Amino acid sequence: MSLKIPKVLTMDNFNFSNKYVLVRIDINSPIDPDSKVILDDARFREHARTIKELIEDEARITLISHQGRPGDPDFASLNGHADLLSSILGVDVKFIDDVCGPAAREEIRKLNPSEILLLENVRFQSEELLERKPELQAKTYLVSKLTPLFNYFILDAFATAHRSQPSIVGFPMTLASCAGRVMEAEIEALRKIYGEMEGKVFILGGSKVRDSVKIIENLLVNNVANKILLTGLLALVFLYAKDVKLSSQVVEAIKEKGLMGEVPKARELLRKYGEYIKMPVDGAVEVEGMRVEGDLESLKGRIMDIGAKTINLYKEEIKNAKTIIIRGPAGVIEKDEFRVGSEEIVKAAIESGAYIIFGGGHMRAVVDNITASFHGHMSTGGGALLTFLSGEPLPGLEALAASAQKYLKGIN
Ligand code: 3PG
Repeated sequence: MSLKIPKVLTMDNFNFSNKYVLVRIDINSPIDPDSKVILDDARFREHARTIKELIEDEARITLISHQGRPGDPDFASLNGHADLLSSILGVDVKFIDDVCGPAAREEIRKLNPSEILLLENVRFQSEELLERKPELQAKTYLVSKLTPLFNYFILDAFATAHRSQPSIVGFPMTLASCAGRVMEAEIEALRKIYGEMEGKVFILGGSKVRDSVKIIENLLVNNVANKILLTGLLALVFLYAKDVKLSSQVVEAIKEKGLMGEVPKARELLRKYGEYIKMPVDGAVEVEGMRVEGDLESLKGRIMDIGAKTINLYKEEIKNAKTIIIRGPAGVIEKDEFRVGSEEIVKAAIESGAYIIFGGGHMRAVVDNITASFHGHMSTGGGALLTFLSGEPLPGLEALAASAQKYLKGIN
């Protein structure tokens, strides 16, 4: 399957000097639900490249991003994000606890060249969660209030490019827009490897089950994956769909997280594409603070990792892969005893000599613990990366392409 990447403008096409520039970054990061401490600064360091260039260009820089989703424990203010970004950039990043109201607009107007302002979590605006066509997103309160204050829009949030939300696809409809350096580098890296990707094994886990089920469907329908190895909660949903007798706690967790609705789709995928999907045969639970392994049907309690039999089974698949794409941890990596599955998978992937693409913030933490370098690409994206690799269009990129068509003549 060939990959269609729409033509978008880059920062090289613009002169940002003295201009008001709105930059959509994605500094959504794992955070401690109680202390709100940010646990991984990788996305901050990536976006620093784009922001530093704008500082040198003497642009008046406003940053917009999200953190978590309403109702989730990591849904939080970006106040602490501004401090972290300041220390990474070595310059002051102002913060305003407003997204597009009078206070935010006043701060934006006051920006001098090379000054930086971070707006509050854009998902505090309820309309940001709507997924709609760019033309409609261009008419939202957020986009219509902020557009008159800016000359240009930069979309640097590759990790969010699979969302058709106002801050991603709305502004390219109302402002001359381009890809930022992170977006550009991600697309370039993926463009290079895509044609050569063969023997593709996807190892998918993590917590975003609903998104992942959709992605698995795309990977299989578009004939992209040679094998898909499932881990984590995602695997448990598929095991339940296959009528494996899981403990009542696991079934309750699936219900509580509202994932029963995914079971019919998982069942259908198993029926149609079962030969491509591999699932765990054992797992690990916590008993008096210890890791205890067993077969899935015999385990009581919350399953917190894959077990040794599954690890060995998956290692066999990994051995023959030419390209391995890993998204999301296999277990509860916050606890040392349950990092085993994720770590063993990463080690086996590295040993296999295959080209490895990692996605999603949590995997970076696992990889960094194991090796300083590897043969492959560490993406800032999780869902966006997989959507891209599955051959589906990324709304963010499509919107940038449309913006280029609309505004090309009027730039500078
Ligand atoms: C991510 O971490 O994958 C992106 O920030 C997108 O977040 P979302 O899945 O909540 O839209």
